Amino acid sequence: MGKIVKGNTKMEEYKYSAKFYDPLLFPFIRPIRNKVIALVKQYHYKSILDVCCGTGDQLKLLKQHGFDGEGIDLSDAMLSVAGKGEHKADCIHQDATQMHYENAKFDLVMTAFSLHEKSHASARKIVEEMVRVTSEGGDILIVDYELSEKTSTLSKILIYFIEWLAGGEHYRNFKSYVKKGGLPELLSGITLTTEVERHYFGKYGIVLLLLRKEKV
Ligand SMILES: C[S@@+](CC[C@H](N)C(=O)[O-])C[C@H]1O[C@@H](n2cnc3c(N)ncnc32)[C@H](O)[C@@H]1O
Repeated sequence: MGKIVKGNTKMEEYKYSAKFYDPLLFPFIRPIRNKVIALVKQYHYKSILDVCCGTGDQLKLLKQHGFDGEGIDLSDAMLSVAGKGEHKADCIHQDATQMHYENAKFDLVMTAFSLHEKSHASARKIVEEMVRVTSEGGDILIVDYELSEKTSTLSKILIYFIEWLAGGEHYRNFKSYVKKGGLPELLSGITLTTEVERHYFGKYGIVLLLLRKEKV
């Protein structure tokens, strides 16, 4: 079966990889997931949204630590994994570029490893939507690649290899994301937010950014 295309999003991209996603990426991603937990504990968020939540791995870990959150994703295969296991994640099928939530609904709106694989226009729309549904004084957390002269060569090779394996439009969008300047470029011109914290992982290949939505 070919890929089902809705808007500019390929809905079946993760059809075959969803089951292997967590076991394969666990060693690389777990320190980042743990840092998110630490930040949630530090800032006492009451309502949490995970945008493009995938397998719901972060939400499941949050649940294990006693924090409730909800997620949205477009892949039925990923959502099916999210709904399984001891700590089922509360994830629904929804497009991150046009969320159904009212303005300022959540204290923390996060997304991890989702922006680099989108077209620039879609990634930008997702960030704008994240800001819209974040409460004033609430936080936006973004985890994604940031390749710079500080990034180790091994990390660069590994990241390019993983993205090359994903292939097709995903890989083209990743290359374009890197060429354009990654997150700093994508976030330029996003108003009403200030940086609160930043942490690097994977020998400076991955950044976690915590932004605060200003009160107006
Ligand atoms: C690389 S996965 C990241 C999953 C998860 N955030 C994590 O940290 O493991 C990217 C996810 O974005 C989802 N996605 C892509 N476009 C989307 C959209 N427009 N709205 C919601 N989810 C989307 C994909 O289905 C996929 O599950």
